[in-house]
Order: sequence, then structure tokens, then C-alpha cells
Amino acid sequence: MSDLGFTNGASHWHHDAVFYQVYVRGFKDSSRDGSGDLRGLIEKLDYIQSLGVSCLWLMPIVRSPLRDDGYDVSDFLDIDPSIGSLADFQQLTDAAHQRDLRVITDLVISHTSDQHAWFQEARQGPESPYFHYYVWSDRDDRFPEARVIFADTEHSNWAWDHKTKRYYWHRFFSHQPDLNYDHPPVQEAILDVMRFWLDLGIDGFRVDAVPYLFEREGTNCENLPETHAFCKRMRRLIDMEYPGRILLAEANQWPDDLLPYFGEGDEFHMAFNFPLMPRLFLALRREDSRPLIDGIENLPAIPHDCQWATFLRNHDELTLEMVTDADRDYLYSEYARDPRMKLNFGIRRRLAPLLDHDQRRIQLLYSLLFSLPGAPVIYYGDEIGMGDNIYLGDRNGVRTPMQWSDERNAGFSSADPSMLYQPVIADPLVHYQAVNVEAQLRSPASLLHWLRHQLRLRRSQPLLSRGDIRFLQVTNRSVVAFTRSHRDAIGLFVHNLSAAVQPVHLELAAYAGLRPSQFGGNHGFPVITTEPYFLNLAPYEPLWFLLEPV
Ligand code: NOJ
Repeated sequence: MSDLGFTNGASHWHHDAVFYQVYVRGFKDSSRDGSGDLRGLIEKLDYIQSLGVSCLWLMPIVRSPLRDDGYDVSDFLDIDPSIGSLADFQQLTDAAHQRDLRVITDLVISHTSDQHAWFQEARQGPESPYFHYYVWSDRDDRFPEARVIFADTEHSNWAWDHKTKRYYWHRFFSHQPDLNYDHPPVQEAILDVMRFWLDLGIDGFRVDAVPYLFEREGTNCENLPETHAFCKRMRRLIDMEYPGRILLAEANQWPDDLLPYFGEGDEFHMAFNFPLMPRLFLALRREDSRPLIDGIENLPAIPHDCQWATFLRNHDELTLEMVTDADRDYLYSEYARDPRMKLNFGIRRRLAPLLDHDQRRIQLLYSLLFSLPGAPVIYYGDEIGMGDNIYLGDRNGVRTPMQWSDERNAGFSSADPSMLYQPVIADPLVHYQAVNVEAQLRSPASLLHWLRHQLRLRRSQPLLSRGDIRFLQVTNRSVVAFTRSHRDAIGLFVHNLSAAVQPVHLELAAYAGLRPSQFGGNHGFPVITTEPYFLNLAPYEPLWFLLEPV
């Protein structure tokens, strides 16, 4: 068993974590039914460990009719039979822990599936003990300020239930009725769901759709004080009963509304950095450091024990809610030229196709992700630059089978190809026969090798996960340069956002007498003096230095 201190409340492991997001259904099929499963995932743990990540985030694994890939829960306390059993889950967490990998999973608390027994019971009417588990109304015009999130599918947050002859409230699909957190038994039930999985050894939760737990007239029904109060209850449960486990918030909000989810260090341990993500894509396309620097500098400081979860892509559309209208128009015009690529307020594409499969640009964005503050999250398949399929509906095009080899079904499954839950990527440009793990392991210049190397470098220096950041004044706006410092260690990170060679003069007088040495190398760069320090960067080049005494 590992000695990483899985039950050690003081470990603060989330500060240094690197997450790997796994869509179990799409990862590896062990049962030849065309759909990935937990046993398949266990087979691939060595691969995941070899990436150099430290924690798996499993998308929903609980019972579900799968109309929203498990974000529509019909039973919180069982594994969906299509991916395995509770025994398989137990085996997975044990096997992961033996490899020093932690495991978190989605906890979908704002709503259930309409197939959940609670909702079916609630539909018996007001006499049912479950009626108040959901939010009912005779009218469909209450809470008019609440926006519709899945704007391409839904027109209202109310749906009619012909059995009770009432409307019920839902923030996402109409088959996902929202739970009523004003009803105390709902709060207790969700806390018990947490205990169930924590008792099985899970290391924490990615808590889905956090801002929408309560509804109040006259508000947009997001980020309400009551919501924060319940989140603090979840945190108290962790602190009192399961120290060392973590809560990661999915709250797609502007910085001022996001910060309160950390509380005073007594709410979430982590939150996704939604405002930063689109600004990385903006900076790259504009070849301008400003959006990126603003993205970091406009973020309020977070409590000491908290950490951002940073990401480039995930299983949803690349959301453009946290940018101005003008920036959103620009991002659409640059990254979603075909209208089919748009969904709701975002772009439903994977990382590599967004960047025209240009390995230099992919590496540049990853290099920023790994060197800016936060714990990076890597979406399965993006480590090999997998393609997507915009002809599949909704977000399915970014959830196709993982590409392991050039064998049938990309080595994902030995089922009949027509049985696959979704087709593998066969676009000639990024066909699975060329883009797969096995091929990239054979090629020293592959994205996969580069990424593993870069994560090794990141692990070698705590300043990358814990250091303070300071941007350097640079007149050439195509170059972004910053230092990270932690205790006595100082790192210097310089990135060329442009497609052309760029010269840059860095103001490094504060570090005069130190010598930049490249991470993992010993190239003799000139010692820093009080004069501007000159560097030339190749197109899209990232440079990582340690500033060391001569
Ligand atoms: C957020 C999840 O990321 C998304 O995939 C899901 O559809 C919604 N929550 C609704 O549960």
C-alpha cells in the first residue's frame, strides 16, 4: 500500500495534484459489449500512472438512464451496470491507490434523472413523502431571472408533469428535475450519498453544477447564500469525518462569484478556473499576452489551503460564458468556423482540432497550463491529440472511444465495430490508425512523450504548484513572461504566443547574479545582470528556467 497518506488530513495533496479526467464508457472495454467499463479502466492504470498524473476524475459512474451520460442519476448508491459493479469499483480504487493514484468522481447534487425513485414517488402528488424533494409550481413563470443553460435544447426552466398536473423546476434537461434543497431531508440524503462513497475509499468529489441548489424570487437563482451554507455543510462533513478527502466545485462563474466557493477555506478545497480557460485560447489566437495576464491578475487571491483546478478542455463544450460578448464573437469566428461546432454558449471541439492539430500550439497551451498557478486537469485523449467528430450530436463528438492502437476499434474494444457506443475517429487527417497511444509511445517526438516529460519536470519543482506568480513587463506583447517563486526557488517561464520568431528583452535586474538553467537541462545561459536580458524565441516556443546561483 502507498504511503502517500490517503487518510492524512494534513496532506493538502490537492495543491500538487495533476488530474486525469476519464469518461469510463469511452476508455477501455473489457467485456466486449462495445462500451468501456471499470475493469477496462483497471487494465489501463499503468498507462495512466506512466503519464505522471496523480488523481483520476471519473465522470458519473452511478446508475443512470444515460440521457446525459450519467449526469442524470437514477440511483446514487450503485454503479451503472453498463460499466460494472460496486466490487469492480472497490477493486479500481484499491488498484489505483497501490499506484499512488487517487480517485475522485462526479457528485451530481443539483438534480436527478426523472427515472430516480424519488421523482417517481414524488409524482404521486403532495401526499407522497418525496413530493417536496423537488420544486413544483402551478405556474411556469416563477424565477424569471434564471437563465436557461442548455439554450439549444430547452426553452424554459419549468416542465409540465401530466401526472401531478404541475410544473417542476429544472436547470438542465427537462428529464433532470432539480432537487429542492429547502427540504431538509434532501440535504441529509445527499450528505449520506457522500458518506457512502467516502466509506468505499473515494478521495473526493467533483461536485457538479454547484451554483444552482436554491431558488429565490427576485434573483437569478445562482450563488445564493443558502447554496453556500449547504456547501459548507458538505465541507464540515469532510473535515469532521473524512479529513484528507477533497471537494472540487464546478461553478462556471465570473471571478467575484467564484471566489466565495472557497469560503474562508471552509467551503471547497478547489474550484475549476472557468474564467482563465477561454483567455488562454484568446491570447494564443490574438498572439497577445494581455488576455492571459488579465485572466490571472483579475482573479482574487484564494485562501491558503485552496487551489484552482485549471484545464483546457473537458467533456462539455468549451464554454464561452465567462468572456465579453465581443471576445465570444471573436472566439467563435476563429475557433468555430462551421456552425455545427457551436453548442449553447460554447464550442464542442477537442483540444487538437481547435488548434488545427498543430503540435507546437498544443504544447504551448499545455506548457502554460503546467506553469501557471493551479492544478492541471487533462481530458482523456487530449494527451495524444485525439480528433473529434462534429457530426455526432450534443457533446458526443468529444467523447468518442480512446485510441490505444491501430487495431480494430482503435484497440478500445474487440466487439463488432457496429456495437460501439459511438464510432471511433476515422477522419483521414487524424485517423486512429495514426493517432493512438501505441504509435506515440514508439515516436520520441510525439505529443505523449513531450507531455510525460513536462509533467516529470513539473513534479520535480514544488514552485510549479505552490509558487507565487509575478508577470514581467515585456514590450513585445506576443511574449508572456512570469516568475514563480516558492521558498528559495525561483522559476522563469517565457512563452512565445506567435507563429513568428520573437525577440524579447526581459527586465530581470532583481535577479542579477543568478543564472537561468533550463529545467531538466544544463545549457549555459548567460548570467543575469542589471541590463535587460535578451532572448530569442522560436514560433510558439515555451521556455522553462530555474534561476540558480552561479
Ligand atoms: C455539468 C456537466 O459538466 C454536464 O456534462 C452536464 O450535462 C450538466 N452538468 C447537467 O448535469
